[in-house]
Amino acid sequence: MTITVLSNKFQELFHSLPERAFFAPGRINLIGEHTDYNGGHVFPCAITYGTYAAARKREDQLVRLYSENFPDKGMIEFNLNKLDYEKDHHWANYPKGIIHFIMEAGYMIPTGFECVIKGNIPNGAGLSSSASIELLTGVLVNGLYELDIPRLELIKIGKRVENEFIGVNSGIMDQFAVGMGKENRGILLDCQTLKYEYAPIKLENHKIIIMNTNRRRELADSKYNERRGQCEVALSQLQQILPIDALGQLSKREFEDNKHLITDEVVRKRAKHAIYENIRTLKALEELKAGNLEAFGQLMNQSHASLREDYEVTGIELDSLVEAAWQQPGVFGARMTGAGFGGCAIAIVANEEVGNFIANVGEVYFEKIGYKADFYVAGIGGGAKEIEMEAVAE
Ligand code: GLA
Repeated sequence: MTITVLSNKFQELFHSLPERAFFAPGRINLIGEHTDYNGGHVFPCAITYGTYAAARKREDQLVRLYSENFPDKGMIEFNLNKLDYEKDHHWANYPKGIIHFIMEAGYMIPTGFECVIKGNIPNGAGLSSSASIELLTGVLVNGLYELDIPRLELIKIGKRVENEFIGVNSGIMDQFAVGMGKENRGILLDCQTLKYEYAPIKLENHKIIIMNTNRRRELADSKYNERRGQCEVALSQLQQILPIDALGQLSKREFEDNKHLITDEVVRKRAKHAIYENIRTLKALEELKAGNLEAFGQLMNQSHASLREDYEVTGIELDSLVEAAWQQPGVFGARMTGAGFGGCAIAIVANEEVGNFIANVGEVYFEKIGYKADFYVAGIGGGAKEIEMEAVAE
């Protein structure tokens, strides 16, 4: 896709040239799953797949949006004076929510704008196409109206849209990764303090392969909120004795010594995952820094097992992909990535095995599940930004 494609569509729809162009990536999470809303650590990176926009300011108060990914929804139009959630506005509720909260924070958006959007992140695949469109709108509005919104504020606004506008009680990982990504770097983020560090992803002769189950996450949002609720119950029961604000503050020892305070067995398993996964994430960063890719891969595998057994968010599709990946030669590690319940998994695979890997895992998956998985090589790219009108994207 090139920006020229977007520009042509823009001219067809709005009969003039767009003024500016913007990009926001998707993300994968290397390790640290369901730890963000538990005050733990995550280790995501932005990918080179993402969402593009070409835009132009208007003179009136209208915002007119068109997505090449949802042509059946047509042009979606709303006024800056009426920025409420509307079911019929479908995907455009994400940009609308961003504009809503930017204005609520006191930034002046004096006129509307028109915009064409196109993304190459598979939708609903757990690669954060929603955080991508949120941050895309954030940098777009920030750029068009020269608002100077600090990046962290845009990230937090993105999370608010998800939580308060859309109704998914997600943590901050996705918006942070999409907003702060850097080429060939992972981001270790402490979700309690928001302190972070970049770590080079040196995979030597390996690639990160994204494996898409092609199972859409229909019930995902309600199950996601349910998991979050269970972690809150565990925290409040542990707080009867322990002076903690989040599960992520506990060591394994502290958890094991106090887990009897959690009365429900299922809730206890959820807490165990959150605490052990947080510790695995910190260990994984150490291993990566020391160049111990094999140990890093083992931690990825343990992460998946814990998400399958204790957090129970994998399901047959993700398990089939990951378990088939574990059997292949040249694989350091594989795990689901993102919220789970369908969506994508990742694997670290030796360059010379990538072809066989895709063929073999693809075949096992098709035989077991009855439809195809898709595979992509993940490039680790930069965060949301303005791009040249001439920029060429993949
Ligand atoms: C989704 C949420 C994130 C995070 C992951 C699970 O991607 O948006 O905040 O909780 O699930 O790690």
